[in-house]
Amino acid sequence: MFENCYKGKRVLITGHTGFKGAWLTLWLLQLGAKVYGVSKDIPSNPSLFEVLNLSKLMEKNYQVDIGDKETLLQVFAEVRPEFVFHLAAQPIVSLSYQSPVETIFTNVMGTVHVLEALRQSKNLCIGVIITSDKCYDNVEWCWGYKETDTLGGKDIYSGSKGAAELIFKSYYHSYFKNQDIVRIASARAGNVIGGGDWAVDRVIPDCIRKWSAKQKVEIRQPQATRPWQHVLEPLSGYLNLGLSLFLGKSFGESFNFGPNSNETYTVLELVNQLKSFWHELVDIAIGTDLSFHEAGLLKLNCDKARAYLNWQPTLSFSETMAMTGEWYSAFYSHNTDINKITITQIEAYVNKASNLNRNWSR
Ligand SMILES: NC(=O)c1ccc[n+]([C@@H]2O[C@H](COP(=O)([O-])OP(=O)(O)OC[C@H]3O[C@@H](n4cnc5c(N)ncnc54)[C@H](O)[C@@H]3O)[C@@H](O)[C@H]2O)c1
Repeated sequence: MFENCYKGKRVLITGHTGFKGAWLTLWLLQLGAKVYGVSKDIPSNPSLFEVLNLSKLMEKNYQVDIGDKETLLQVFAEVRPEFVFHLAAQPIVSLSYQSPVETIFTNVMGTVHVLEALRQSKNLCIGVIITSDKCYDNVEWCWGYKETDTLGGKDIYSGSKGAAELIFKSYYHSYFKNQDIVRIASARAGNVIGGGDWAVDRVIPDCIRKWSAKQKVEIRQPQATRPWQHVLEPLSGYLNLGLSLFLGKSFGESFNFGPNSNETYTVLELVNQLKSFWHELVDIAIGTDLSFHEAGLLKLNCDKARAYLNWQPTLSFSETMAMTGEWYSAFYSHNTDINKITITQIEAYVNKASNLNRNWSR
C-alpha cells in the first residue's frame, strides 16, 4: 500500500490527538511507520486517541502548542521527520466566533511555525499541510469549488484556513520551489465523519452525545448540504499526496479531497441515516439556533486529485453512514474491542479500494 513509502519512516503528525489525527496515527502504525505526535491537548472527552490507547503505540507524544515556535523547532530538530502531516488547528466554526484571535493565531501562525520548522530540515522531508473545504470564498453556488477558485471566508475559521493556504503558497514560492529537500503540498477536504469524533458543535457528535444520554437531539440548518465523507477518504488522499511528493511530483500544489459530486446530502438526511444504525429508538428536533453564520451549500470539485494523483473516493454515502453508525453503536454497547473494530474498518476500507483498483491500495 502507498508503495510501502511509510514503512520504517519517521512521520510527525501535528494534531494527532484529534479525530482525524488519531485515525491517521493508527493507519500509519498499521503501515509500519514510526509515528511522532505534536498536540496541545486532548480535544474532547471521550477521545479516540485515548480510547485507542495510541500514546502506548507511538514513538513519542509531544504536548506542545504550535503557537510556541521555539519549542516546535526543537521537536522537529529532535525527531528529524521524513514526513509531516500538519493537522493541528482550532477547527470549530462556532468556537472561532468566540475566540477569533486564538483561532487565527493557531491556524495561521501555527502553520507559519510548522513551515519554519520544515525550513530547518537537513534531510528529505515531505510536508502535507491540511486546511479545509472552507478555505474557499463560498458564494453558495451549485458548482463544486476548484483549486483555482478564490480563497476567502465569511467566518473566522474559514478565513483562517484561506489565510493558511495563502501562507503555504508564499512559503513554497519563497523557500521550497527551487530545492528538493523539503517538498510541500496542501490538502482541502470536506466535512469528515466517522467513529470516534466527539467534537463540539458538529452534527454527528451532537447526535451521539444526546442519544447515548437518551435525549432528543436538536439539529441546526437541516437543509444545509455538505460534502460528507468518511474520515478514511481524506486520509487516503493525504497519504497518497505524501507518496506523490515522495516520488518527486505535486510540489507546491493544492488538492481537494471530497465525495463524488452526486453524493451531497442534507444534514437531515445524514441524521436520519445515522438514526437507522443506532441501537435504540431515538428522536430528533429541528433547531432554531442560527446565532452564527454557517454556509448552506458547499461542494468540492475533485477532478484534479483524480487526474494527477489517481485518487477517487471509495465509499458511497450509505457505506459511510454504516461504518460510522456501527462504530458508535459498538462503542456504546461496551464489551467490544474498539481497537479491533477500528482496525477492521481500516482493513475493510483498503479491501474495497483494492477491489475498485485504487492505485494507492496496491
Ligand atoms: N473534521 C472535519 O470535518 C474537518 C473538515 C475539514 C478540515 N478539517 C481540518 O482537519 C484538521 C483536523 O481536524 P479534526 O476534526 O481532527 O480536529 P480535532 O478538534 O479533533 O483535533 C484538533 C487537533 O489539533 C490540536 N491543536 C489544536 N490547537 C492546537 C495548538 N495551538 N497547538 C497544538 N495542537 C493544537 C488538538 O490538540 C487536536 O490534536 C484541522 O486542521 C481541521 O481544520 C477538519
